[in-house]
Formats: sequence, C-alpha cells, structure tokens
Amino acid sequence: MTLDSTRTVREIVQQYPAAVPVFEALGIDYCCGGTKSLEDACEKQQVPLSKALKDLGDALIVRPGKDDEHWTTSTLSELTAYIVEQHHARAKRELPRLVALAAKVHLRHGHMHPELHQLCELVDALRSEMSPHMLKEEQVLFPRLSAMEQAARNGTALEPAFFGALINPIRHMMSDHDDTGELLRSIRRLTHDYKLPDDACMSYQSLYQGLSDFEKDTHLHIHLENNILFPRALEFEKAH
Ligand SMILES: [Fe+2]
Ligand SMILES: [Fe+2]
Repeated sequence: MTLDSTRTVREIVQQYPAAVPVFEALGIDYCCGGTKSLEDACEKQQVPLSKALKDLGDALIVRPGKDDEHWTTSTLSELTAYIVEQHHARAKRELPRLVALAAKVHLRHGHMHPELHQLCELVDALRSEMSPHMLKEEQVLFPRLSAMEQAARNGTALEPAFFGALINPIRHMMSDHDDTGELLRSIRRLTHDYKLPDDACMSYQSLYQGLSDFEKDTHLHIHLENNILFPRALEFEKAH
C-alpha cells in the first residue's frame, strides 16, 4: 500500500489504527501533535521518511485496524463510557502507584541518581494534571454529550450549558492534553527513553516499565479524545 506523506498524522491514525504502534516505536506524536503532516512529523523526530513509510506499510498490510472505525460510528455515550472504563480507570490506578514507586526508588537510589528527584516531581505533576482533568470530563463534558444525544433521540430541547458552546470546554481539555503530553515528553527525556542504569533494582525496572506503559496508554487515551470524540461531538452539536 502507498501512503501520502503530506497527510496529517492524525488522518493516518484515524484511518489506520494499526499505525499507532508504529508511531509509538518511532517516537512520533500522534495525539497532541497529530496535526502535522507525516513528512513534518518525521523531520521533527529526525526519522527518515522512507523508514516511517516502510514500517507503516508493513504494519498496515499485516493488521488493518478496526478499533477506531467502531468509534467513528458508535454513539458518543458508548465512546465516553469506554474512555472512562478503560483509560480513566487505568490512570486512576496507575498514577498513585507510580508516584509511590518513584518516591521509593528516589529514596533508595537518589544518592547515585540525583535526577530521580526531578522524576518524582514530574510524575507527581502528571498526577496533579490528569486527576482533575478526568474529573471535569466525567462530571461536566461527558454527561453533556450524553444529554445532547438523549435530547436528540427524544426530540426535546436541551437547556444551554453553563459553559456555552462545546468548543469552550473542548479547547480547555485539549490544552490540558498538551500539558500532559509535555510532561510525558519531559519524563522520557529525563530517563533517556526509559534506559535503565546498570545498578537498577526491581523497583527501578518496574517504575520505568510502568511509566513507559502508562505513556503508551495515555497517548491512546488522548488520541481517542482529540482525534475522534471531540471532532464528532462538535459535528453533533452543529447538526442538532
Ligand atoms: Fe479522558
Ligand atoms: Fe482528556
């Protein structure tokens, strides 16, 4: 298959979800930085375009993605329920665990690895950033989307929301996502792409593995919101 490298990274993952692990492996930002063309994203990440196209071609031949396709035709409520049950639940479970684990590793290894102090601060900042953000989605934005669908189904009018048009909270959420993306990038930089030192103990290994897995999950989480849920919600609002 051939891919047009002037298409945006977002368009590519929307059409081919199997491209997600390829972008993850190449370090190409497909969630917050998804508006860049594939060419520009490769240049920014200093990945040869030919390599990205080959890796994408291989992945897409083997596994044409279906997951996101489902979310482009489901109800908005089904999608938000999935986000809450999968990604929010995982973040609520993982963030306190990673904060505690980072503190433990810092306590044991901080004298040899002073950067662990900053790592603790970054993981803590990640929790402080994501926890209230998810609460706002669960208590304000997502219920509004369900109410909009319900009203459209029943043919009833909906009271205007206190925040006005949907674009207002959505802009706010997307700006939070940018902040989260920046924190994840800082963690990756500080840990040199999660490269463990030679003296790393089991907790150290578990911390880096946990952070790396959490980064992947958060990229998918933000992708579902920025690239699928929010555009669909804005379209829905316009159409009703
Ligand atoms: Fe979310
Ligand atoms: Fe979000």
